Amino acid sequence: MHRDIDRVLISQYQIGARVRELAQKITDDHLSGQERDRAEITIVPILTGAMIFCGDLIRQIPIQMRIGLLAVSSYPGENIRTQGSKILGQQLGDIHGRHVLLVDDILDSGGTIKAVVPLLESQGTASVKTCVLLRKDRPGVQNVQADYVGFDIPDEFVVGYGLDYNDYYRNLPDIVTLKREIISNSKK
Ligand code: IMP
Ligand code: MG
Repeated sequence: MHRDIDRVLISQYQIGARVRELAQKITDDHLSGQERDRAEITIVPILTGAMIFCGDLIRQIPIQMRIGLLAVSSYPGENIRTQGSKILGQQLGDIHGRHVLLVDDILDSGGTIKAVVPLLESQGTASVKTCVLLRKDRPGVQNVQADYVGFDIPDEFVVGYGLDYNDYYRNLPDIVTLKREIISNSKK
């Protein structure tokens, strides 16, 4: 185990099982709304945090698919509270008339989804749905809905499986908390 880890909150095995369930539900819902043979979806992962989750998820969604990219920053550097969502870059392609599934790692303050969904809709999408791996139990989140949620977690700072602290730890296979001393010097 990595020396900076305090405890494992969600293991890679739990993640794997839940990702399979989410993919199945997304597939079923999507196919029930479209003609099966012609069904298409555009997946938009929010970089960088959703990269690993999205990679696992989409390989289990057997639907004709395009991928668009959006890079958003909300926790720059050593911050562990959102500093507001800033869109850093986009490579969405033409999403006009398309069914879009936005994929993010975690729903925290809800700022990211609130900023990004209207941006996508303003380009004339047929529909925009949202999928997050984690949802933090904290006030404010209730105002922002996600269509698909992997796990509800306590209001703790977590890393791994794509989530970072100061851009590190994304490659850890489990969702974990960090030892107090690792983030104790951060700008809260
Ligand atoms: P929101 O805009 O406040 O909902 O925050 C969403 C973004 O904040 C996520 O995509 C993450 O990049 C980041 N974030 C929120 N909570 C955590 C956490 O516990 N660990 C790492 N990143 C987080
Ligand atoms: Mg982040």
